Amino acid sequence: MKASMIIDKDFKVGEVDPRLYGSFIEHLGRAVYGGIYEPGHPQADEQGFRGDVLELVKGLNVPIVRYPGGNFVSGYNWEDGIGPVDQRKRRLDLAWRTIEPNLIGLNEFMDWCRKANTDAMMAVNLGTRGPDEARDIIEYSNITGGTYWSDLRISHGYRTPHNIKTWCLGNEMDGPWQTGTKTAVEYGRIACETAKVMKWVDPSIELVACGSSGLLMPTFPDWEATVLEHTYDHVDYISLHQYYGNRDQDSANFLAQSLGMDRFIHTVIATADYVQAKKRGKKKINLSFDEWNVWYHSNDADRKIEPWSIAPPQLEDIYNHEDALLVGCMLISMLKRADRVKMACLAQLVNVIAPIMTANGGAAWKQTIYYPYLHASVFGRGTVLVPLIKSPMYDAKDYTDVPYLEAVAVHNEDASELTIFAVNRNLTEALPLEMDLRSFGGGFHIKEHIVLEHEDLKASNTLEAPDRVKPHSAGNATISTNGQIEAVLGKASWNVIRLK
Ligand code: AHR
Repeated sequence: MKASMIIDKDFKVGEVDPRLYGSFIEHLGRAVYGGIYEPGHPQADEQGFRGDVLELVKGLNVPIVRYPGGNFVSGYNWEDGIGPVDQRKRRLDLAWRTIEPNLIGLNEFMDWCRKANTDAMMAVNLGTRGPDEARDIIEYSNITGGTYWSDLRISHGYRTPHNIKTWCLGNEMDGPWQTGTKTAVEYGRIACETAKVMKWVDPSIELVACGSSGLLMPTFPDWEATVLEHTYDHVDYISLHQYYGNRDQDSANFLAQSLGMDRFIHTVIATADYVQAKKRGKKKINLSFDEWNVWYHSNDADRKIEPWSIAPPQLEDIYNHEDALLVGCMLISMLKRADRVKMACLAQLVNVIAPIMTANGGAAWKQTIYYPYLHASVFGRGTVLVPLIKSPMYDAKDYTDVPYLEAVAVHNEDASELTIFAVNRNLTEALPLEMDLRSFGGGFHIKEHIVLEHEDLKASNTLEAPDRVKPHSAGNATISTNGQIEAVLGKASWNVIRLK
């Protein structure tokens, strides 16, 4: 059994928008309190932000972070999070049944973004609120001064506007769990009116309309069609959310699930283009895959949490090796459609279904999924080339013709680098791979072949053993003078072959 692929410099899919490697911080569990913010922690700075967490975030080179939710935003009054901290109200958060202390709000989060070298993707509340509050928050954030809200920001110590460029119009408004769930028509109308006033305040912003909360939502994809029919003239992106799990302990089927993600992306593109055609429009609506990850390990523990505490440990999935492989496959799925998937957020960033974990008062460490996300974000910048792949296949419970090899290439012309991301889904056997780079004229050498592999698919990193699963650079890829690469991809492995 072997696989082959041809990588041609003219098989261009599109440029990678750096925002494809975004992430997400929600007021949920220990993401904010005990995650990015823990005053009194030995590594906390003068504002209470954990320096060790900031270092791990900066290492990931995260270009954009979605905030403040998620389900949280649909019941959130953003004004509760501004002004003197000692005067802020504690509120019930109905989404996660906790108490929100409002110690961190918009201004503090923007400070954190600056420290983390990232931008904010801000969400407005379209669950319990609407255009009125949305026009106020954008005036507060982006107008220089001379108006009520902009002067209020200045009085709070922020003379320079935050200039937040990317905004989400609500969150998962199709979901019955959402505060203020709406039908597609109800949501389409309020999203349209909110988008209008927000762009009247600041025409330079970009807006994301809510798509379906997942591929299996009963209203998918009619939801997208209806919402975009109402909002087409005013929005720039439609969102996608998708989480996967391995509840049946069927790893072959689990790893095949990125094929569902491929289909999801394909269908949303088709629906957006259908609306464009109906509108006789010039504008392409692009995709913001602003929630994606593996999420299932913590489901049972979360059901046992007592309501109305502050920052309990919610959604604390401890990720294992196979989760990292699926995260790698999901990154490849999005890269393969980099022409239309312009933004994406790994949900989430710290403690809550996250690549980074912390102990309160203690250390921070990298989960297994940190690594494929790191490699894609650091090395996956440039032009995506779609490889012509021949791979042996298998049938799984929910998917047929699943290729053992999942792969994509990114060409960074400025740095004269080519990076191949490849997963071997075969759980028991290594996969010999031949790669033909003939169009590149044989100028490359192998800079590094990074491999993430482990004998135990269920191995994970913990506070006590933070390095149980980590990559090495001893992969065996070789290149001949005529541009032929040979490598053997270990069973169940994530591979990054870097050529210079
Ligand atoms: O990321 C966790 C939750 O998943 C978000 O709050 C919500 O949007 C989604 O259902």
